Order: sequence, then C-alpha cells, then structure tokens
Amino acid sequence: MIWQVGIVQACLAPVYCIGKTLCLEALLMTQIEPIRWRNDALELLDQRLLPGQEVYLRLATCLEVAQAIGQMVVRGAPAIGITAAFGMALAAREAGGSLHWRDRLREAGNVLKAARPTAVNLSWAVQQQAELARQQPDAAQAYTELLRAAQALLAQDINDNRRMGQLGAALLPTEGGILTHCNTGSLATGGYGTALGVIRAGFERGYRWQVYVDETRPWLQGARLTAWELQQEGIPFQLNVDSAAGHLMATGKIQAVIVGADRIAANGDTANKIGTYSLAVLAHYHHIPFYVAAPLSTVDFALANGAGIVIEERDEQEVRRCGAQEIAPTAVAVRNPAFDVTPAALITAIITEQGVAHGPFAENLAKLRP
Ligand code: MRU
Repeated sequence: MIWQVGIVQACLAPVYCIGKTLCLEALLMTQIEPIRWRNDALELLDQRLLPGQEVYLRLATCLEVAQAIGQMVVRGAPAIGITAAFGMALAAREAGGSLHWRDRLREAGNVLKAARPTAVNLSWAVQQQAELARQQPDAAQAYTELLRAAQALLAQDINDNRRMGQLGAALLPTEGGILTHCNTGSLATGGYGTALGVIRAGFERGYRWQVYVDETRPWLQGARLTAWELQQEGIPFQLNVDSAAGHLMATGKIQAVIVGADRIAANGDTANKIGTYSLAVLAHYHHIPFYVAAPLSTVDFALANGAGIVIEERDEQEVRRCGAQEIAPTAVAVRNPAFDVTPAALITAIITEQGVAHGPFAENLAKLRP
C-alpha cells in the first residue's frame, strides 16, 4: 500500500545575476527534495503528477520501492540508485526475525534490480548495500547500517552534483545557447542535478545563457520536470519540441549541448534518454560541443562498450497518448525504446565529480576511478 502525504516546502533562493541585469529581489523557490526519509519510511515526490500536483508517496516495504521505480514515481539514474539503497534498508527491516534474512535480502536486491534495466546506478547501489549487509551479524544491525549508508549516499550525491556543476560551468562557454534533454535536475538525483546542475552553477556564476529545453517525448521529462525546476528558480529558458533541435543549431542558437547519462561504458559510449544520440549527431554536424555530466557511479567499467547496454522498452501507450489524450489510432503498432547509445566519438567531454575526462575515454575515465 502506498500512502500519499504532504506537499513540497518553500524557501528563499539565491539571487541570480542574469546577463548584465542584476535581479535584486530574492526569488521564492521550492527546495526540491525528491527523496526523503521521514518517520521510519521512504517518501518520494511523485514525478508522474508533476507539475500539476506535488504529492509525496510514503513507502514502507522494499516491494513498494521496486514498484515505485518501475512506475516512474521516481526516475533519473542517480535518483533510482539512491531509492534502491533505501529499498535494501527496508528489506533488511522486513527480514528481521527470519533465520534466512541474508537470502531474503538477496531476493530483494534482485527485485529492485529488475525494476528498470538501463541505469547502472540501480544495480550499483544494490551491490554496495549487499556488500555492506554481508558484513553485519544480524538483520537488525543490517537495517541500521543500510539505512545509514542510504542516507549518506543521498547526501554525497548532492555534494558530488555541486562539484560537477563547478567543473562543468568552468568548461562551458560563458554566454550563448545551451540545449539540454530530459530531466537531469534535482528530481533526477538526490538534489541539484547533473547536467542541470551545471546549468544551475552557470547561472550562479552569472553566465549569460539562454537555456533550451527539449520537451522529451514521450514521457515529457523536459516539458513537465525540467521546465518546472527551472521555473521554480527563475532561470530563464525556452521549451522546444525535440525535432526543433536541428533548426536551432543550424540557425546559430546553440553553443553547447549538455545531457546526463544512465550508463557509460568504459570506452565512453553513453546510454541516455531516447533522442540523445540524434542530438549528438546534429551537434557533430554543426561543430557544437556535446557534453555529458554524470557521477562515476554511472560509469560501468565492466562494460567495454555501449553494445552491451540493455535498452529498456516501455509501454506502447506512452507513445499512443500524450498525457491522457489518445493521439494515434487505437492499437497502432508502436516501438518505444526509452534510451539510446551515443558513441564516445561524438562526445566532447564527460564531466564527473572527480574531474573532466576527454577522449580517449577508455584511458581517461579509468584515471578518475577512485
Ligand atoms: O526514463 P528516465 O526519466 O529515468 O530517464 C532519465 C535520463 O535519461 C536522464 O538523462 C539520466 O538518468 C540522467 S539523470 C541525472
């Protein structure tokens, strides 16, 4: 059973300097907390309902957590990794009193990992928690330690994103058009964001950017979530349909593209939201730099290249409909790959919390590995 609770909290945002115009009044923004631990349960801001409704779902079992990930209550590679870490803690609590708690925890890990296949952060977080659990004498101690680790992972992710933001902002041009795809902000992470964190950091530095946000069909992460986040903070942007990207580049509106990642192979091939590959090809043709921002937990060093990345295929109805509105003839055949793979050769640099890697990525990503 998933319970609904509360709404998001408001607080005062920093003042942004946009171009040469200093905005003097502090902007009222919402401190976005996509994942939080309250009163012995996990609470997730339900991203299916945004921007219309801001509702938290309360989850008290590992199965509820796995379902919430599968149904995209929470989405974005780092966010689902952190959520899964809390799911493992809940599984340890549920297994308390059972002689077979280690087996039950292993099964819980498999259920979580099966919720969504592409983002490696999910299996990475489950693996980390499983290793920690192995060191514990009993389920009660495992619950305490896994909960502590999940909370630390959440806090660390926000710190890492801020670091990535600074490194990315130092790399990008200080003015011009910046195009982004999907949602890579607070909602997709513990907070602040990866690619959107770089955009936040640029505005904190006073860069003169015009942000372009791809709407990101079919789930509309750009139109619903990135637009909502940027609006909360008073960061100026324009929303465009995905197919406008080529025109925007050809007419000189875009000086850099920045996106997040769901899984980066050891050679730099990058899986990200469907449409990312097309953007990278377009950017290459127009000689526009193409950046990926992602924590090292998104790099799958065990995978030599992108050919081995499993691409999630989602429900056909997502394509036949736009929101609740049917837009295609009933039962029309549909393909709905949720991600694509951008070859490393099309990527200018990969920004991580440990530093920026340029090609050859096989060599330079490995150097950043802690
Ligand atoms: O299907 P989603 O919304 O989970 O896909 C999210 C993305 O593709 C993001 O770009 C990626 O996870 C990076 S989020 C910081």
